This record gives sequence, C-alpha cells and structure tokens, in this order.
Amino acid sequence: MARPQARYVCQECGAASAKWSGRCDDCGAWNTIVEEAPAPPAGPGARARGRRSGQLVELSGLGSHGAPVARLRTGNREFDRVVGGGLVAGSALLVGGDPGIGKSTLLLQIAAAIAAAGHRVIYMSGEEAADQVRLRAARLGVAGAPVELGTATSVADIVATLERGATPRLVVIDSIQTMWDQRIDSAPGTVAQVRASAQTLIRFAKERGSIVVLVGHVTKDGQIAGPRVVEHMVDAVLYFEGDRGHRFRILRGVKNRFGPTDEIGVFDMTGKGLEEVENPSALFIGARDRGAPGAAVFAGIEGTRPLLVEIQALVAPSPLGTPRRAVVGTDSARLAMILAVLEARCGISLAGRDVYLNVAGGLRIQEPAADLAVAAALVSSLHGEPLDDGAVWFGEVSLSGALRPVAQSAGRLREAAKLGFTRAVLAPTDDLGEAAAGGIRLDPIEDLARLVLQLSGSGE
Ligand code: TYD
Ligand code: MG
Repeated sequence: MARPQARYVCQECGAASAKWSGRCDDCGAWNTIVEEAPAPPAGPGARARGRRSGQLVELSGLGSHGAPVARLRTGNREFDRVVGGGLVAGSALLVGGDPGIGKSTLLLQIAAAIAAAGHRVIYMSGEEAADQVRLRAARLGVAGAPVELGTATSVADIVATLERGATPRLVVIDSIQTMWDQRIDSAPGTVAQVRASAQTLIRFAKERGSIVVLVGHVTKDGQIAGPRVVEHMVDAVLYFEGDRGHRFRILRGVKNRFGPTDEIGVFDMTGKGLEEVENPSALFIGARDRGAPGAAVFAGIEGTRPLLVEIQALVAPSPLGTPRRAVVGTDSARLAMILAVLEARCGISLAGRDVYLNVAGGLRIQEPAADLAVAAALVSSLHGEPLDDGAVWFGEVSLSGALRPVAQSAGRLREAAKLGFTRAVLAPTDDLGEAAAGGIRLDPIEDLARLVLQLSGSGE
C-alpha cells in the first residue's frame, strides 16, 4: 500500500494540492498554504471494512417516511424561528460569527433553557475557563440551570465523556477551532484539524441522536475561519451577525436541511445577555431622524417576516479625483447600478460627488426590493430635501430605470400600517387586494425618472 502523502491545504478555501506554493491557485490568497498530514480513515475501522465485501443497504420509497421530525423547542422564539421551529434530534449545527459578537452568550442561554426544561445538556468550552463561563452564566441569570459544563479541547476526550451516562440531548462545542484530534498532526484551527474534529462530533450526533452545536469564528472577509468545509458537513449553518457598535444582533439561517434558510432572529445585547426582539421594525426605525434629507424607510422582508429599516444616503461634493462610494449594510454593486441608472436614465450627475450609503441599526440587506428606497434616499440627499416621513418605499430598479414589483407586497404594507405609516411608494403591482384596505395610500411609480421628477418638482 502506498504511503499516504502529505498534502498542502489552503487555510482560506480548503483547496488541496500536492506541492507548496506562496499563493493559492483556487482562491488567490497569499501565504495561506500549510502542510497537513493526510486525513485519517473516515470512521473507526473504515479501512478494514473497506476490504470486506459491501453490506446491503436497505432501500425504501420516497413516500414511506416515519414519524414527522420531532423538534426540540428552546423556548426562545427568535432562535426557534431561525432553526425552523426547533432543533432536530441527531442534527449538527454550525453557529458562525465574528469574535465577540455574542455566540457563547447566545448558546449558553439556549443550553440553559433546554437544561431547565429537563433535558441533559453538555457545554464544552475549549476557549474559556470554567470560571469564565460560570461568571457569564451568573450575569445571564442562568447559573441555576443544570447544564453540565466541561473544558476540553481533545475530541477523543470529549466523545468519551459524551458517551458516558445518559445520551445528552444537546451538546455545545465552543469553539470548533480550538478542537484537536490526536490522529492528525497539524495545529488546532487548521483545516485538517477542524474537519476531523467536526467529523467525529457530527458522527456522534448521528449515531446517538444528540443535537450538536459547533461554534465557529468567522474571518474578516466573512468566512468561517479556515474551513468552509464544516459548512458542508453540518445540517444547518447559522450566522450571528451585527455591528459591535450597535446593540442589535441578527441570527441568520444560511443553510438548513430541516427548514427554511432565509429566516432571521433579532436580539438585543443587553447587560443581562441577549433579549429577543419581538417587534424589530419598531426598533430599527425607532431612532429615526425625521425631517433629515437622505433618509428613506424601506419595507423589507426577511424570511417570512416583514422588517422596516431606514436607508440613509449622503451625497456630498468630493475633493477627490475619483469620488468615494462607501456602503455599509448592503451590496456595493447594487449601489453602483442604481447610481448608473440615475445618471443614464434620469439625467442626474453624480460625477465629482462622494456617495455614502448606510443601513441604520447595523442590519444587512440583501433584497433588490431596497433599490427604490436607496434611489429615493440618494435623490433626497442630492437635493437636500427630506422625503415624506410617513412613507415607506420598496421596488426593484431595472437597468432601464423601470420599477419592478417585488414579492410579498401585502406583508410589507401591513407592517408599515402597523407602525403608523400612511403612504407607500412602490412599483406598480396588482396583487395588493386586501392590503390597500390597511389604511395606507399607495403611490405606484413606473420608473425612476418619474420619481426624480416628483422629488425635484414638489420638493417633498
Ligand atoms: P461572547 O458571547 O463572549 O462572544 P463570542 O462568543 O461570539 O466571542 O460575547 C462577548 C460580548 O458580549 C462582550 O463584548 C460582552 C458582551 N456581553 C454583553 O453585553 N452582555 C452580556 O450579558 C454578556 C454575557 C456579554
Ligand atoms: Mg465565545
């Protein structure tokens, strides 16, 4: 049998090659390639099994399912919504986020809630000493919950511990980057270590029916540090995001084998841990600066939930040869597109002007439906005229300048009506039926040029 060869693995993207180089051919990152010993066989005795002839796999029809998946509710509505109504036995989750964003806080609260409901819960900390975790538990007011706390980084020790006694319902591993598997001889945090540790822990979840939650830190550019490999191995990936300068934290499902992926949960980081935010719209538009130019309220949808946020724009003369375009909380390519449409279709010149765009509250918006609100905020800032502060805006802008209707208009309008808005500027759409009865005046607008005319004409 050939001796297993060492491999060279990029710590950014996980690409493997046979020789070392200074730059990864796959993702182009510099100095990220590290020599790693070959991965161990996939399971205990996998090689030996491989030599035997294969065993028969039981096959069944698509319709012959057993009982519907039982979900373990945590009692935390925001968390339960993101995971699709509760945690599924035997599943593995990855909770990713920047260091210091509140992952350990969230998971300690969830662990405490499940333990308090009478289930066995084990919290394994590889980063913090037991006293630190206890201190946090005291601060969160959950020190009395029967969570079993351990501090370990060796996966073999952890699995041995988990296998003793009653099978735990929930196991939290904080964090996967600190774990190491003694069969692999690279440092903790490298792709090989993280992959092998995750594999072992996920296998434990599948075999014993426990729920295993892996915490993962994210690098600057938004990837779970080193190994995106873990994302493929787990059943659900949740990102905990937010701006450390703001109190609000968003838990976003980006992959979920047992539920929808685009749900968000909104939390408020207080002195006593994370509190669920029941009415995020009120929170995101609460501190709004009424009457200031350059602000438009966007009626968005996150998952199944409508969410109002304020989009702020600042257009200012630029001292620079190439003016700045800075974006916080949304996509800079979409801003570039809207600016191009305003220039090409609406006769607005932004050459020589810096453009800043911000989504208030530290939220990230991915919906193209925000285009109209962005355009309105830009035009308002350019003219120095505030927009109607009783209006919400939504609609997608196409390259021709025409506005396209977006999904779930009725839900957006209901949310706006609930928060006291009286007018909606939107793309022409015909699925509004009952929503129009919500007391909101609808102002359909066909294209961006017309909007620019209206805003500059009436000086709203
Ligand atoms: P932590 O959960 O340790 O973050 P992570 O595990 O993602 O690295 O949270 C750290 C931050 O949260 C820290 O800056 C302090 C703050 N925090 C509060 O504001 N209130 C609290 O009750 C707790 C426990 C933490
Ligand atoms: Mg932590």
